[in-house]
Amino acid sequence: MLTPAATTHNSARLSSLHPGSSPSSASSRTEGDAGSIPFSKADFDRVCKHIYQRAGIHLHAGKQSMVYNRLVRRLRTCGIGSFSDYLAQLDHASSSEWEHFTNALTTNLTSFFREPHHFPVLGEHLKKLAAGRPLHIWCTAASTGEEPYTIAISAMEALGRDAASVRIIASDIDTTVLRTAEAGEYPEQAIDSLSPDLMRKYFLRGAGGRAGFVKVRPEVRQLVSFRQVNLLAPTWPKFEPFDALFCRNVMIYFDKPTQARILERFAPLMRTGALLFTGHSEHIPPGGGLFSLRGKTVYERIVK
Ligand SMILES: C[S@@+](CC[C@H](N)C(=O)[O-])C[C@H]1O[C@@H](n2cnc3c(N)ncnc32)[C@H](O)[C@@H]1O
Repeated sequence: MLTPAATTHNSARLSSLHPGSSPSSASSRTEGDAGSIPFSKADFDRVCKHIYQRAGIHLHAGKQSMVYNRLVRRLRTCGIGSFSDYLAQLDHASSSEWEHFTNALTTNLTSFFREPHHFPVLGEHLKKLAAGRPLHIWCTAASTGEEPYTIAISAMEALGRDAASVRIIASDIDTTVLRTAEAGEYPEQAIDSLSPDLMRKYFLRGAGGRAGFVKVRPEVRQLVSFRQVNLLAPTWPKFEPFDALFCRNVMIYFDKPTQARILERFAPLMRTGALLFTGHSEHIPPGGGLFSLRGKTVYERIVK
């Protein structure tokens, strides 16, 4: 049983909803893990090549110890004693190890209402569109779910009951974070910065075995569907045309040609006038003819 998040928890239990599950936020993943398996510059270069080819993630030399700390745990779990043996597995295209390798190397930092100036813009945009048809939104690097749930909450605040027409696809390359996202359960500090009103309306507070955690209410969760999508994959699933698209704080991991290719692929998936939201340090250069600047890191899909 759960209580509204703005109220103090009592003897109610959240554990019955997710028996055995242990909610964790990937944003708090630790990096420190000393070990004695050697990791040479050549090993690091091979890791860089693999993750760039697979996920578009560009790692620079300063990331060598971070990469070591993240992968050495995986080697130990698999009982593999050298990086060259481990990396040799990845040379086989069908290796199931790719998923673990990719999940280990993504950076998943996120939060509810991160870069909050975007959400009133989204709310006004949805209000203007609300026309008795479904409204489609893609959150392309959803990480542990705080971003797509913030989108859903913003839609509910803007549209009230009409938010039932909003369909949010939340995707990420990392299957581990997607599992956390789907569960929709977070340490209660994750919503510290929200107003008591938003906490009460959109979260349930766990108690007993789940004390210290909050869960996104079902009416918010039902607006969001999760799926794995690699933005680098040659094809993406078939989607309905989008009214808004969030691609925030992931492009920074890609090089310029990759960023440009992805933006070109987003454009035909968006309705004319749809909004693209990017991260604080991700700017689309003017003159491309696909998007025009609408506000701080908000772009409108235009047609030449
Ligand atoms: C720093 S988080 C940003 C999360 C959220 N968008 C935000 O702004 O708070 C970056 C996310 O991008 C995902 N990512 C990295 N490469 C990706 C790719 N090629 N395709 C899809 N997602 C990717 C990572 O797994 C990670 O969850």
